[in-house]
This record gives sequence, structure tokens and C-alpha cells, in this order.
Amino acid sequence: MPNAFISGTGMYVPPEVVTNNDLREKYGIDTTHDWIVQRTGIEERRFAKEGVGSAEMGAYAAKEALAAAKITAKDLDMILFASLSPDMCFPGSGPIMSKWLGLYEGDDPKFVPTLDIRNQCSGFVYGLATAASMVKAGTAKHVLVVGSETHSAALDMSTRGRTVTSLFGDGAGAVVVSATEEDRGIRKWFLGADGRGADALKLPIWDIRKRPYIAVNERGNGEVPPEMLWPQMDGKSVFKNAVERMCMCLMQACWDLQLSTNDIDLFLFHQANMRINQYVAQQLGIPDEKLVHNIHKYGNTTAATIPLLMTEAVKSGKLVRGKRVAVVAFGAGFTWGSAIIDW
Ligand code: ACO
Repeated sequence: MPNAFISGTGMYVPPEVVTNNDLREKYGIDTTHDWIVQRTGIEERRFAKEGVGSAEMGAYAAKEALAAAKITAKDLDMILFASLSPDMCFPGSGPIMSKWLGLYEGDDPKFVPTLDIRNQCSGFVYGLATAASMVKAGTAKHVLVVGSETHSAALDMSTRGRTVTSLFGDGAGAVVVSATEEDRGIRKWFLGADGRGADALKLPIWDIRKRPYIAVNERGNGEVPPEMLWPQMDGKSVFKNAVERMCMCLMQACWDLQLSTNDIDLFLFHQANMRINQYVAQQLGIPDEKLVHNIHKYGNTTAATIPLLMTEAVKSGKLVRGKRVAVVAFGAGFTWGSAIIDW
């Protein structure tokens, strides 16, 4: 049975920086830099310009990951695309992104299968586990896993939405998961879900149980009230469940491999809130120097946070061959996941 290792990483963040002060001064939101930093650790985030969506940003990250893996898109056997902000309701962003990867160029187009993952903040870890399973089973040699988000289009940029709006930013990360006979790679993963938390964080833009699914006015136009148009969050419930589930799923993966957190060199925690991550680290006795963060500069980029962290850790030399890294995520659903990788 081959091992599944990460052969390349890539990232893309849009150039526009939006600071906490910009939320107040440019958008007129009643907030302060100190309020946001003290509760979340976020100082600024990136917003994509109008016309740019998750598939396009995902393609930029994917191209960098493919180049790092020293393969072309035509070497891929599968594409997994994780996002809670897909370009449209259907089709998925996976096939839309494929158009930018050069798969159909020349006289030998390749029609790589794509699968969209709707697991919000833990979508990338679910993708990693799926890719590793396929590679280890021998059904794929190279799988591209992308996490890409365009939150800025779907945030209530008014004081009414400030609790959620101050948290999120745009960006994309990607990895290539490849087969190897070497003794390395994605060793173990642990995934979970608890649908009882489904209402704690949601964007109920439509309700398919209604006829029609969005109310239509007398002119035939859809009418969506603010509580359906914008994301809704019970922040305290999300915080409490995030801490519990992140600790539990990291411990589960460690237990399965008979490791302690001391045996792990680097921890890549989902970047939802600096306080959540500090609390998890404190509970598990993980020292600061083993953690990397990017929430201060990108905010919460949901499915993109971990591949962004991974790419930055590779670029900075923190993540090199021989290091053991743990990834942990928790998100809407609720869903969660962890993985331990020998780099
Ligand atoms: N600026 C200023 N004031 C604000 C802001 C803001 N951006 N947002 C909320 N407030 C106000 C509220 O309106 C409220 O005012 P009130 O007392 O007059 O009603 C007050 O601050 C306190 O609001 P709370 O919601 O009780 O604040 P809390 O201390 O719970 O912090 C927060 C909110 C930061 C969202 C916290 O609950 C949290 O971090 N939860 C975790 C949520 C999370 O991380 N979600 C990310 C997505 S899920 C994921 O990726 C895992």
C-alpha cells in the first residue's frame, strides 16, 4: 500500500487589505480595532475585488501547488474543492476552477473528476482525508485539494452584522497529495460531525422546504430578509464547541498513533479566533513556539486557513522534510477533523 504525502503547497490572497479601522471608517460599522483584536486576534483581512470568486482564487493557489509538486494539472487523478462560498449554488466550484488549470488545452485534454466539499471550516481536512484514502487505496496517484473562500461578498457590512463581519476574510490555499513508497506522509486522520449544532452558524439564504424556496414579490423578483441574506452565528456556542471538539479530535488522532503532543513539531490550527486556539493549546500543554498563526493578517478564511498556514510554513522553512505536523479544524455543521502528517 503506498503512503500519501503532500508533494506541493500553494496559496493566494487578494491584494486589498481591509484593517479593523477600515471596517469603521470606510464601511461605517460601529466597531473598534481594540474590540476585534481583544476578542479574536484579527488585525486585518483581505477582500477580493468584485468579479473575482472562489474558483479563480483557488486556481491561483492550485497552480502554485502543482508547480511545487513538479507536476502539471494533467497529472492529476482527482480534484477536491472545499468552500462555503462557492461561485454559485450549482454547479460546484471544482469544475469551474478546472477551466483555469490548462486541462483542456492542446490535442490531449484531460477530464479530471472534481468533487466539491461543503464542510465549511473543516472542509480542507475532510478533503485531505479523502485524498489520502484514495492515494493509499491505489485509486489515485495525485489528488489536488483546494480550500478557497470569498467571504467579502456575503457579509453584512453594517453595524447589524458586525459580530460576524469582523471575523472573515478572503483567500485560497491548495495542496497536492501524492503517492510514495517512502515512509512518510499523512499517517492518521479523525473526522466527526454533530448536526445538533447546525443552527449555531449558518447562511440560510434559501429554504428549499418553502414553495418557492425564496419569497417572490409581485414583480417576480426574489425577496430575502436580512436574517436569511447574511450569516447567522451563536458565537458563544461556536466558541465552546470549537474548544471541546478541537481538543478531542487532536487527542484522538494522537491516541491512534500512540503519540503525545510532545512528539509533534508543529500545530496548524484552524484560524477562527486566536482565543480559541490559545485555549486549546493551553489545555493540551502545547508551547507557543509550536503554533503558527495567520488570523491576525487574513481573519478567518474558513476552508483556506490550513492550506494557507501550510504554504506559509513551507515558505518560511518551518515545515521541512522530517517534521511531524498536526492539523486541526472545527466549523459549521458542526464538523471537525484532525490529521497527523510526517512531512
Ligand atoms: N465591534 C464592537 N462590538 C461588537 C462587535 C464588534 N465587531 N461584535 C459584537 N459586538 C458587541 C455586541 O453587539 C454585544 O453588544 P451588547 O452587549 O450591547 O449586545 C457585545 O459586543 C458582546 O457581544 P457578544 O457576542 O456577547 O461578544 P463575545 O464576547 O461572545 O464575542 C465573538 C463575540 C468574538 C464572536 C465570540 O463569541 C467568538 O469568538 N465566538 C466564536 C465564533 C467564531 O470563532 N466563529 C468563527 C466561525 S466558526 C469557525 O470557524 C470555527
